[in-house]
Amino acid sequence: MKENNSLVTIANLSREDIMHLLHQAEKFEREPNRTILSDKVVATLFFEPSTRTRLSFETAANRLGARVIGFTDPKVTSSTKGETLKDTIMMVSNYADVIVMRHYLEGAARYAAEISPVPVINAGDGANQHPTQTLLDLYSIYKTQGTLDNLHIYLVGDLKYGRTVHSLIMAMRHFNPTFHFIAPKELAMPEEYKIYCQNRNIPFVEEEEFNADIIANADILYMTRVQRERFTDLMEYERVKDVYILKASMLKDAKPTMKVLHPLPRVNEIAYDVDDDPHAYYFQQARNGLYARQAIICNTLGITV
Ligand code: CP
Repeated sequence: MKENNSLVTIANLSREDIMHLLHQAEKFEREPNRTILSDKVVATLFFEPSTRTRLSFETAANRLGARVIGFTDPKVTSSTKGETLKDTIMMVSNYADVIVMRHYLEGAARYAAEISPVPVINAGDGANQHPTQTLLDLYSIYKTQGTLDNLHIYLVGDLKYGRTVHSLIMAMRHFNPTFHFIAPKELAMPEEYKIYCQNRNIPFVEEEEFNADIIANADILYMTRVQRERFTDLMEYERVKDVYILKASMLKDAKPTMKVLHPLPRVNEIAYDVDDDPHAYYFQQARNGLYARQAIICNTLGITV
């Protein structure tokens, strides 16, 4: 946690920071209901739609005794009258102890953290970063694999616009991963993240094929949704939206310990028959978000349990 104790990017967190947060999340999972924030107000400002991130943050705050204010639709705020993001943040910081913000513009969270008198938690900024999703992803990987070290992590689908995979790559730099980037050319991992891996000697393989043989060596199969809202050309979206669909039959040769993760929401990329397969872990992963976000809120406020 840096910049006014804000959480803007996962890149700022050391291995020790990450492990501390995961151990805090373990404690919250054992005991999620604690009135340790009864004098705190948490603001949730969502300029973009959300189900899990907003509701798990609000549940996290409520289970810790905090009060929650905020909005789920900027159309009901004075931003429609021309109020700037700066003025909105300055106003909300008069009322709340911490601001959780999702915004459609890349860099909006960093800007908010720079000007805000209270800490800002980035709940997703455009196609850039989603650090709290990454922490719950790391918690899910840690719980299911018993370690974060030396894992083969397969990232599948929209690697161009998927902010969760970008944040996950950065976080895993501390843990000696091997990545497989499985995407069609149109949605390939951006050069900047491949350079990021090369500069840190993180091995990665790029593939376009997606089948049972390709994924047989995976420890984690991280599926992603093709992000319709980021396309300027909807014809291109139509061309690639169903390019990879994971079916239960494709998991027959998977390692017994392998888990399928997905930040959700899913559209077509995981068939419903996978839900009953023991490798499926995406609903538990979303539940882990509650505990990870309890840890993040407390850490941002300087509270350790
Ligand atoms: N994973 C995730 O960010 O989900 P929501 O968009 O529903 O918050």
